[in-house]
Amino acid sequence: MAAVKARKKIHIETWGCQMNVADSERILQLMTDYTRAQSEHDAQLIVLNTCHIREKAKHKVISRLGRLRKLKRVRRDLKIAVVGCVAQAEGKRLQREVPDIDYVLGPAQIEQLPQLVKEQQQGTALGFATKKIATDTEAGPTLTGQFEISRFINIMQGCNNYCTFCVVPFTRGPERSQPRERILAQAQQLVHSGVREITLLGQNVNSYGQDLYPKGNPFVDLLRDVCAIDGLQRLRYTTSNPHDFTPALSALFAQQPKLGRYVHLPVQSGSDRVLQLMKRKVNVARILAIAAALRAHAADFAISTDVIVGFPGETDEDFEQTLALLAELRCSFVFSFKYSPRNNTPARRFRAQIPEAVKKQRLARLQQLQHNITTALNLAEIGQQRQVLVHYRSRKAGHIYYGRTVHFRPVRLVSEHDIVGQMHAVQITDANATALCGKLL
Ligand code: 5AD
Ligand code: SF4
Repeated sequence: MAAVKARKKIHIETWGCQMNVADSERILQLMTDYTRAQSEHDAQLIVLNTCHIREKAKHKVISRLGRLRKLKRVRRDLKIAVVGCVAQAEGKRLQREVPDIDYVLGPAQIEQLPQLVKEQQQGTALGFATKKIATDTEAGPTLTGQFEISRFINIMQGCNNYCTFCVVPFTRGPERSQPRERILAQAQQLVHSGVREITLLGQNVNSYGQDLYPKGNPFVDLLRDVCAIDGLQRLRYTTSNPHDFTPALSALFAQQPKLGRYVHLPVQSGSDRVLQLMKRKVNVARILAIAAALRAHAADFAISTDVIVGFPGETDEDFEQTLALLAELRCSFVFSFKYSPRNNTPARRFRAQIPEAVKKQRLARLQQLQHNITTALNLAEIGQQRQVLVHYRSRKAGHIYYGRTVHFRPVRLVSEHDIVGQMHAVQITDANATALCGKLL
């Protein structure tokens, strides 16, 4: 009997945003000759899917590569691929400095990985595909997600906004939307296979379709069409930019219950002066007007946001205005970052860079304020009745389940039967700074 050839194994490590999570899933789909490895130790191909948004993220990749090089010295058959935004921005330099890297691909070139691996096995490829940012939209939407009942669909790539701090337009290129029909077909197929929550992904989702369908409001149309799919319980999207957040988009929350009562809306700063320096194209009044429109529909509408502290030129007064905005918005959650200068971006060359110690102090103050707000909002949930979509069962304790409320707050539940994928009425019994506990009703 002929011996069955063992399939090779792939190990992927993913840093950064949900776009990268989606890209990693796409790589797994593309590498049909490979199965998933348990860890880096039994893999023939290790893929680092990298993030370049802040300096720290890049350093993490470089130090990880340092450790993998050692593994490569004892494992001749091991190949290493660096993909994602660090590969796009620093690929050539990385290959010079870490010669053990076999493949380097930017986010728009991941479709080429199987071909590169094949060619290198035949000894013909350079293993390098970062020369330009591809602008095609040939690749189908990427389907991904940590849990079976909740999956992502990548609806667009890139960004045209060029905020002065941000490297994304340079690493991910200009906006390219996926055709509506393709996204709808993917969403239908997912729901048919048991998915109950879909998250539409893109760097700037609410400008979806402006390249393909210049008339009307293509993102609103897309949301309506996806909401109409029978069996889908919840539809979310991320990330939306306040600049493209139209009144039609906020009005949709009142018309489409599947959208829930939560949105991620990055504000970045509470100072009009800093927002202008960032080229965010919105001011604080506009941000507050969007929040007011959302909360006119539901007073408890939950908003999460991103904030940068220590942007060049940010004064104490500017920073106080950011704290004041957060106190007014009362966000359910805030992702907060110290400004990190990035190559190619204008803010890197602004003169008034803020000392690290000041950034650190501001970040700590902001996080303390937000911790108090998040905790108070979570505690106010105790005693409320909420509809919870159950996402997964704890691996350690079989009777413990985790889900999300309509405000996207995580809830821990106890059940004797399998409730994954079900929407349940839940009484909130306890809460802390990070999550709620509930009882099935
Ligand atoms: N420095 C710090 N934070 C940044 N972000 C993007 N670029 C930078 C940078 N250069 C943050 C923004 C963005 C989030 C994804 O990352 O807040 O919304
Ligand atoms: Fe970066 Fe601004 Fe585009 Fe967001 S909108 S990805 S912050 S350039």
